[in-house]
Amino acid sequence: MLTVSEVTKTFGGLTAVDDVSFTLESEELVGLIGPNGAGKTTLFNAINGISPPDAGTVRFDGTSITGLKPNQICHRGLVRTFQIVRTFNESTVLENVLTGAVFGSGADRSIPEAREHARKFVSFVGLEEFEGTDARHLTMAQRKHVELARGLAADPKLLMLDEIGSGLTPQEIDELTATIVRIRDELGISVLWIEHVVEAIMGNTDRVLVLNEGSLIAEGTPAEIQENDRVAQAYLGDSE
Ligand SMILES: Nc1ncnc2c1ncn2[C@@H]1O[C@H](COP(=O)(O)OP(=O)(O)OP(=O)(O)O)[C@@H](O)[C@H]1O
Ligand SMILES: [Mg+2]
Repeated sequence: MLTVSEVTKTFGGLTAVDDVSFTLESEELVGLIGPNGAGKTTLFNAINGISPPDAGTVRFDGTSITGLKPNQICHRGLVRTFQIVRTFNESTVLENVLTGAVFGSGADRSIPEAREHARKFVSFVGLEEFEGTDARHLTMAQRKHVELARGLAADPKLLMLDEIGSGLTPQEIDELTATIVRIRDELGISVLWIEHVVEAIMGNTDRVLVLNEGSLIAEGTPAEIQENDRVAQAYLGDSE
């Protein structure tokens, strides 16, 4: 589904992402963790075209997407959310999700068709009773669900989530996590998920990638990652 090969991204003298390679299979749910500033968001930006890599390539669903624009990549089915919630707050929940169906998807739908399509995902995330409510009246947790629905309405094959759980209570994170797991299990969509709440990642993903100072320092099942000394060191900040 996704093949990232030797991707590097520098900002001046800083190598934010350093020669990172990994693959992600169809219908896999993969976690991406690492301390603050590890380069997780920069890697997402390099993959989805917001800030293309200085070196390396990204292949998605059988073709190279390196150097394509974010909207072109989105239309091919690689859809992401952002670390800071970005709902359209003066628009209703359905209008928010409709933007995904109309502008995010490469599919050719009439507005009534797009509206039906969007409604499906408003229900999928459990917000049908708020369909006509402006996003500004929702809780942060509900707005995160709107972002998931908007992403889903864009017809992703792969959904990339950048710390969608940040700022939520443990119970809200559990609810959001359950929705993320359903996205893979019920819709068959692959998910690449950055989260600081390591328990959510460890309890629910097939595989975990660990970035530290721009480099991929570990990759394995949650159990393997939990026993990895290099990962423990990166998180505890040990300096040899
Ligand atoms: N546009 C930019 N210009 C200059 N430096 C940047 C830019 N974007 C990111 N960086 C730097 O690159 C490094 C990686 O940042 P990045 O945001 O990718 O980390 P992150 O793993 O997502 O961190 P967090 O967990 O805090 O979100 C940091 O040192 C950051 O300051
Ligand atoms: Mg980040």
